[in-house]
Amino acid sequence: MTIGLRYAQISDIKAVGDLDYEAFNPYGTVENQETFHRRRIAFPHGFVVKELDGEIAAYGCSEKWLADRDPGLGEDPIKTHHAGGKIFCITGMAVRMKYRGKGYGLAVLDKLIEIAHQEGCTKIILETTHAQGLYFKRGFRIVRSREERGIRLDVMALDLD
Ligand SMILES: CC(C)(COP(=O)(O)OP(=O)(O)OC[C@H]1O[C@@H](n2cnc3c(N)ncnc32)[C@H](O)[C@@H]1OP(=O)(O)O)[C@@H](O)C(=O)NCCC(=O)NCCS
Repeated sequence: MTIGLRYAQISDIKAVGDLDYEAFNPYGTVENQETFHRRRIAFPHGFVVKELDGEIAAYGCSEKWLADRDPGLGEDPIKTHHAGGKIFCITGMAVRMKYRGKGYGLAVLDKLIEIAHQEGCTKIILETTHAQGLYFKRGFRIVRSREERGIRLDVMALDLD
C-alpha cells in the first residue's frame, strides 16, 4: 500500500470536493468545490491531502487570521486568510468513510498542528458538529457552542507554545 501526505494540487480539488460531500452531507455542512480552489490559492501550504493507492483518502485545510473569532460557513478564503495572521483556523478535514478508524484523521490533524507551529501561530481554532473526540486527543478544548443554518457547532481551540 502506498501512503503519502502531501500538499494539495489543483488536480486534487475535485476528489477533495467529493470526499467533503461524502463526509459532511449528513451534517448539512458541505463546502462547494470553488471554496476548496480558493483555499488552495489563499494558503497552499495549509492544505494537505493523504493519498492511498492513488486515491485521495483524506484532506485537511486551513487559513491564518489576524484576529480570533468564530469560524463561519461559506466564507471566502481569499478575503479571510492573511499571510501574517497568528490564529490558525482548520477550515475542514475529513477521511473517506472506507479509510476511517485507521489513524489517518489523526495523521492529518498532526500535520496541520505541525504547520501551525512552523507558521509561528499562537492558537488553532476549528469547529465541529460531532468529531470533538478526535480533537480532545490532541488537547483541544471546547470554547463555546453556536448555531448556524440550524446546525449546532462546537468551536474548539488549542493554544500553542
Ligand atoms: C473525524 C474523522 C476525520 C476521523 O478520522 P479517522 O481517520 O477515522 O480518525 P482516526 O482513525 O485517526 O482516529 C484517531 C482517534 O480519534 C478517535 N476519533 C476519531 N473520530 C472520532 C469522533 N468522531 N469522535 C470521537 N473520537 C473520534 C478515534 O476513536 C481514535 O481513537 P483511538 O486512537 O483511541 O482509537 C472522520 O471520522 C471524518 O472524516 N468524519 C466526517 C468529517 C468530520 O467530522 N471532520 C472533522 C470536523 S471538521
